[in-house]
Amino acid sequence: MSDPESGDAGNDSSAPTLAEAEAKILACESSEALKEVEREYVGKQGVVARLLASIPDAPPEERPEVGKQANILKKGVQQAIQARQQGLADARVATEREGQGFDPSLPPPRPQRGSLHPLTQVTRELEDLFQSMGYRILDGPEIETDYYNFEALNIPADHPARDSHDTFFCEGDGHLVLRTHTSPVQIRALENLEPPLRVVIPGKVFRHESTDASHDHTFHQMEGLVVDRDISVAHLIGAMKTLLRGIFDRDLEVRLRPGYFPFVEPGFELDARCPFCEEGCRVCKRTRWIELLPCGLVHPNVLRAGGVDPEEWGAFAFGLGLSRLVMLRHAIDDVRHLLGGDIRFLEQF
Ligand code: PHE
Repeated sequence: MSDPESGDAGNDSSAPTLAEAEAKILACESSEALKEVEREYVGKQGVVARLLASIPDAPPEERPEVGKQANILKKGVQQAIQARQQGLADARVATEREGQGFDPSLPPPRPQRGSLHPLTQVTRELEDLFQSMGYRILDGPEIETDYYNFEALNIPADHPARDSHDTFFCEGDGHLVLRTHTSPVQIRALENLEPPLRVVIPGKVFRHESTDASHDHTFHQMEGLVVDRDISVAHLIGAMKTLLRGIFDRDLEVRLRPGYFPFVEPGFELDARCPFCEEGCRVCKRTRWIELLPCGLVHPNVLRAGGVDPEEWGAFAFGLGLSRLVMLRHAIDDVRHLLGGDIRFLEQF
């Protein structure tokens, strides 16, 4: 009973100090202000520290009491600060909720989802389309031999058509190249499958060119090859019209211009009516025609190279530029966006 009494009596200065501190702490409206009060009381030069430092000067019988009061003050201040900090945090959350119209019944924000690359999208769509017409989907090596990339396609070593292919040669004697087109897989298909056959071959091809808005060193093609009896240009046109219907969802007029490729004879450039305009636009460069793809009837030398008798079988082939098609579809003005890996570009699809 004498302890509290003597405590009260002996601590005229420190007992109100805790109450005073608590009042100050309660009045704080920010954690910065709280830090300030904390420093004032429990900091290195603070009230508590000074109290403790005064112990040696106090009369010996009062020393324990001074120490006790200092500790009570220290704990009290720390507790009050912690409580106030929690209070401030709660208040902050509450105002945020109010401000943002927080509704706990709403579902959480959806996680970010990726999407398929536009080239993958087009490839898959066309694969579906061709599969529904009885085509098989084939794959071939991106590193090819000179034989498959050129020789077997009726492009012998000294043929000027090699120039236009801007080839990347692998190290060594030059007989391995990065394929410059998907046509080498025509030969592999002829070698490995029994006619009649219909195949499409989507894939990456490479050209050693300076890059600009319409040229990249790597791009995508889809090769098509159909081998059957009595194949004519009419079959080719029919297949291409079906392809166009699949891509643009309607019938488009087509026209053939002569085009030279050593592995087809006759060879064509196939144009389609511009699907985007009636009287000329930027896409068709005001011509009302868009260049769709090169194609033709497969040259007898190519069929022979693949072990297929050109007297017995006929064939047509086409080389669809997938990169170009994606650019047409999404009005992309620079082919380098496609493989540039810029997430801002990709997020649009
Ligand atoms: N392979 C040719 C190229 O990339 C395109 C082509 C394919 C032409 C099939 C005719 C037939 O240049």
